[in-house]
Amino acid sequence: MLELDDLCTIAWEEETGSIIYIDQTLLPGRCEQMRCTTVEDLARAIRRLEIRGAPALGIAGAMGVALAAARSTERSLDRFLADVGRAADLLRGTRPTAVNLAWGIDRVIRKIAVAASVDEAKTVAAAEAKAVADEDELVCRRLGAFGEGLLPDDCTVLTHCNAGALACRCWGTALGVIRSAVAAGKNVRVIACETRPLNQGSRLTCWELLRDGIDVTLIPDSSAAYLMRKGRVDLVIVGADRITRDAVFNKVGTYMHAVTARHHGIPFYVAAPLSTFDLSRVESEIVVEERDRSELACSGDRQLAPDGVNVLNYAFDATPLDLVDAIVTEIGVLRPPYAESFRLAGRREGVRP
Ligand code: MRU
Repeated sequence: MLELDDLCTIAWEEETGSIIYIDQTLLPGRCEQMRCTTVEDLARAIRRLEIRGAPALGIAGAMGVALAAARSTERSLDRFLADVGRAADLLRGTRPTAVNLAWGIDRVIRKIAVAASVDEAKTVAAAEAKAVADEDELVCRRLGAFGEGLLPDDCTVLTHCNAGALACRCWGTALGVIRSAVAAGKNVRVIACETRPLNQGSRLTCWELLRDGIDVTLIPDSSAAYLMRKGRVDLVIVGADRITRDAVFNKVGTYMHAVTARHHGIPFYVAAPLSTFDLSRVESEIVVEERDRSELACSGDRQLAPDGVNVLNYAFDATPLDLVDAIVTEIGVLRPPYAESFRLAGRREGVRP
């Protein structure tokens, strides 16, 4: 099992060919590791948000393909690839908005597509999935090092949802920037929005930051604007689930913070790895995940809304790029005009397409 001291969200267990992960639905009450031995288990864990956060979904997608490869009993290469392809389609359909999921899946699929035998494909799939996970830590650390320069020596940072170690392999994107700033000796206080309805902010971000001894204060999402008006927020930093040519998709509520931050003259930053970029598309082409009504209408056994009420439960929203002051990546801080920054970034690291 994983070493919980290092808060490693997800890992591939070589000996058993299975995935070990922290079940995030149990936090903050319990930090427990689970094991996925089938692709169906993994798809269920992703749908239930036991594994969540864009980079972690990328790793899960890559490991899901490795899992399908390890479990396939087909001996003919064609039938084996068809088998793994079906598993990949199942995983791809679990959460449509976070582009990292498909990115992780495709990365391993591309590798096994050129294997000469089933055995080679199985070995290559496990190695590539492990590489995706290992790279994620490196990417987050680099991104953190670039991003910490945006934070003043003494500041209060507002964040939404959880873009921390739990959303990645470890360290985090938006929280990685904060961790890097704290590691550099800066005095950083964090305001964590609770992030209704599934409370990734209160359950996960607060848990992570307290664990690291970083000053964190929990607020209801709805008090962010008032705190900004009172001068209690120096900057906003969030993660991303997909960055298109014109918008940043992230947890629903992000757009509201971006509009409010601009109104109050507060910088609004996004931290995301290049694997979150989807520059072949624009906002209108993206499917925004809608989740079950029960997430809003109930809290456990308690009813929060009358039977029969219409519920609209988008998991994400899109923030137009003109509200984003900078995007922190592992190759540096991108600034407007983004068309030009994306072109240069694409040249360096092959940002898709
Ligand atoms: O529905 P979730 O919990 O998967 O949503 C996660 C977010 O919106 C995060 O902010 C995003 O994935 C960035 S994580 C580094």
